[in-house]
Amino acid sequence: MIQLRSITKKYKNNYALRNVNLDILSGEFVFVVGASGAGKSTLMKLLYKEETPSSGTVMIGGINIANLPSDKVPNLRRCMGIVFQDYKLLQNQSVYDNVAYVIRTLGISTKEINARVLGALKVVGLSDKIKAKPTELSGGEQQRVSIARAIVNGPPLLIADEPTGNLDPKNSMEVMQILDQINQRGITVIVSTHDSAMVDYFRKRVITLENGEVVRDIQAGTYEQQ
Ligand SMILES: Nc1ncnc2c1ncn2[C@@H]1O[C@H](COP(=O)(O)OP(=O)(O)O)[C@@H](O)[C@H]1O
Ligand SMILES: [Mg+2]
Repeated sequence: MIQLRSITKKYKNNYALRNVNLDILSGEFVFVVGASGAGKSTLMKLLYKEETPSSGTVMIGGINIANLPSDKVPNLRRCMGIVFQDYKLLQNQSVYDNVAYVIRTLGISTKEINARVLGALKVVGLSDKIKAKPTELSGGEQQRVSIARAIVNGPPLLIADEPTGNLDPKNSMEVMQILDQINQRGITVIVSTHDSAMVDYFRKRVITLENGEVVRDIQAGTYEQQ
């Protein structure tokens, strides 16, 4: 599904990624780990086309998105869900409206929107919170709303950049379990994290970045494994 070839990303004179080569298959669950500044967010941003590589190719579903024109980016993003550390919810909108927002522009019927929003909220266990505002929710619940928003359009790929970075261990576990369940429905899931307890618990593929380089790539790995 995803192939990165000879990816380098430079910000001014600073290399964020150096000669990264990666293949991620359809249906995989992948952790991207590494210390702060290792290049995790930059890698994710190349996948959702928030940044452009300095050199190399980013193939997603057979298309090189490295030089995708900006008018094609909305199309690309419709094929992926994105989850951020800080949720990025609309504070004055209800849970329902936060999730419905992205699909209201697609010209589908209100009935269909309703079915999809309720379906996504059910996956994250928030069916009883549809009228709540983000300020009335815990951090873990807010992150689950953002996951519902990310999957409401049924994307084949979910990208989560430090989704548990602001959460305590209990809420982190709930969020990771939801991401795991979403993966079990066949969606490819890529999660960046420096939460070693989560990585060690779930035993997924672990790709480790150090100073912008892939230094380990292990199936069913742990955080510190050599
Ligand atoms: N917009 C930017 N401008 C300049 N340097 C940046 C920018 N974004 C990231 N960097 C640098 O690139 C490196 C990798 O950052 P990042 O991908 O955010 O790492 P991580 O997510 O693993 O903490 C760091 O040295 C960081 O300071
Ligand atoms: Mg980061």
